[in-house]
Amino acid sequence: MRNVLILKGSPRERGNSAVLAEKAAEGARAAGAQVESIYLHGLDIRACDACDLCLEQGECVIEDDMRPLYPKLAEADGILLASPVYWFTFSAQLKVCIDRWYAFQASKWKEISGKPFGIILTYGDTDLTSSGGINAVRTLESLCLFLDSPIEGIVHASLDKAGEAETHPELLEQAYRLGQKLGGGN
Ligand SMILES: Cc1cc2nc3c(=O)[nH]c(=O)nc-3n(C[C@H](O)[C@H](O)[C@H](O)COP(=O)(O)O)c2cc1C
Repeated sequence: MRNVLILKGSPRERGNSAVLAEKAAEGARAAGAQVESIYLHGLDIRACDACDLCLEQGECVIEDDMRPLYPKLAEADGILLASPVYWFTFSAQLKVCIDRWYAFQASKWKEISGKPFGIILTYGDTDLTSSGGINAVRTLESLCLFLDSPIEGIVHASLDKAGEAETHPELLEQAYRLGQKLGGGN
């Protein structure tokens, strides 16, 4: 069975990116995958301090909520990143988590490489460019290139009030299909 890991970067638990992420989770489960969805804002994840001890010890030495996330990332067959656009890129909650992936250098990135990614971005401005969502896409494209990971799809939308995504069936459908793909469906 495929494992899909969803990392949600919004502090709004029922915000727009979270609504779309949960729809993607539904799609992945329908495709037969096991899904775990993580609300990053609720976790204590410190910033990478660049100590490079991961190289010596084989793992990150910081004792915080990133600890149980490393094996989940390593075991995931697909990863979905869902975030609001904050100040023209994805949220700090997601960035601080991704920075800690640096510890995968211990396995020469092997544990995190090659997994398909999905991206969900929501923003208040009218489109991907004016919102700055394009910068998040650009960063994640570079990350996926570095990790030899394909991007299975990007769902993005201009939304405002928390939960507004619920009233956009076409968006929910896009998110569901992205989840299906990550879950191993067509
Ligand atoms: C701190 C903060 C910064 C934001 N920065 C931007 C931005 O740079 N561009 C934009 O289009 N919207 C910005 N927004 C609006 C959110 O991206 C928008 O409300 C989005 O739908 C929130 O997604 P969520 O419901 O998943 O939290 C910002 C909102 C906050 C709270």
